[in-house]
Amino acid sequence: MRARVTTLAAASSRTAKLYGVEIVAAGLGEGDVLRELHVATWAVTYRDRLPRGWYRERLAAHRARDWGEIVRCRTAGGGGVLTARCVNRMVGLCEYGPSEDGDDDPGRVGHIHRLYVDPARQRTGIGRSLLTASTDRLRESGMSAATLWVLERDERARSFYERVGWKPDGKRKSEPMTDAITDLRYRVVLV
Ligand SMILES: CC(C)(COP(=O)(O)OP(=O)(O)OC[C@H]1O[C@@H](n2cnc3c(N)ncnc32)[C@H](O)[C@@H]1OP(=O)(O)O)[C@@H](O)C(=O)NCCC(=O)NCCS
Repeated sequence: MRARVTTLAAASSRTAKLYGVEIVAAGLGEGDVLRELHVATWAVTYRDRLPRGWYRERLAAHRARDWGEIVRCRTAGGGGVLTARCVNRMVGLCEYGPSEDGDDDPGRVGHIHRLYVDPARQRTGIGRSLLTASTDRLRESGMSAATLWVLERDERARSFYERVGWKPDGKRKSEPMTDAITDLRYRVVLV
């Protein structure tokens, strides 16, 4: 299928409503807070959307994730983890870096690995701000496009990405044995 992409200009003007929210890079010593936010948000998001066994397995894996090591590796690899803070409380995270897909050039194509906003703070502009700040950094590091994978049946996340300018590029992948877990790749051009 022919790739459909849109172009994303730098510096979204839609961050004004985010009064009191700061976007800052995660520190190496913040692994526990990152894990807590990721696990709590992931659990609520996917509880009724994934086959039960797969949900439990993934949740256990997420509880064991070493986020301090992820921050270290992503930063060393030309990416990072950005966080949204409100009165010193972490309310969102975005993990980004070069693409790891075999069909994309990691020197030119960046990737959003994870984007999670505290359920109590969703739909207040934090996701958009984190995504914009992360794609700005990818652009500054020389990337001309960015991609991400999203669950095909996750209409809410897909609506969000489409609202902020991303489009499916035609690539999809499924977990063996179940088509309940099919991911679509979304892409945006960075200018
Ligand atoms: C998806 C997610 C990151 C979006 O972040 P958010 O802070 O809630 O979204 P924002 O408030 O920045 O919304 C930005 C735009 O997308 C739209 N949008 C957000 N969520 C939406 C939804 N569920 N359905 C339709 N549109 C949506 C908003 O209306 C907004 O548009 P507007 O600025 O014109 O009003 C967040 O809801 C989340 O963490 N979800 C759970 C985890 C997840 O799904 N992560 C992505 C996995 S691939």
